[in-house]
Amino acid sequence: MDIYILTGTPGTGKTTIAKHLLKYGFQVIDLNSLVIKKRLWRAKERGCKVVNIPALQKEVKSEILRMGKQSDKAIVIEGHLACELKIPADMAIILRTRPDILIKRLKSRKYPNYKISENVEAELVDYCTIRTKENYNCKIYEIDSSRSLSSTLKEVVSIISNKKIPDKRWDKINWLKYFEHPKVSKYLYK
Ligand SMILES: Nc1ncnc2c1ncn2[C@@H]1O[C@H](COP(=O)(O)OP(=O)(O)O)[C@@H](O)[C@H]1O
Ligand SMILES: [Mg+2]
Repeated sequence: MDIYILTGTPGTGKTTIAKHLLKYGFQVIDLNSLVIKKRLWRAKERGCKVVNIPALQKEVKSEILRMGKQSDKAIVIEGHLACELKIPADMAIILRTRPDILIKRLKSRKYPNYKISENVEAELVDYCTIRTKENYNCKIYEIDSSRSLSSTLKEVVSIISNKKIPDKRWDKINWLKYFEHPKVSKYLYK
């Protein structure tokens, strides 16, 4: 049974893409829902949950076993926290979104400014890509989800279903020039 990691900064489109992947016959583990369902978090800092990563890791492993007994459909593990886990995966996909576009998406979610800053900084410095490289030994791909949902979905599906692809493709996205972008820089260094 194949296991795919779908990670990236909040707002890059993981949950939306994963919902579409259900229609392509994949099973999905949504890490955010698992954290809530199993109460895998402790006292909040500035209104945010601090997730117990070792406990999440354990729950994901038992969820994979449980799903594997019911079906041999491939599993997609979706969430920004997936990059912090060590799961024996076949492939990891990191969704990346241009910082100015990510800000728009997080604003429309009514995120407070400090949370927009944290996430846009993480996206600018390739946080999820770096953590994925540290934690996973499988094929790793970055996909730009700044464009339309349909083109992103098409790219994700083609990468997941195509067996003949190079081993790693994680160094193609670089948002450094957006540090100076007026719509982005006002959210930095707060
Ligand atoms: N190319 C794209 N890929 C994925 N989502 C997109 C894309 N373009 C716009 N969106 C929108 O961005 C938002 C992403 O939200 P969501 O899927 O919850 O992100 P995440 O799970 O990564 O936090 C959705 O409203 C989605 O419709
Ligand atoms: Mg999500």
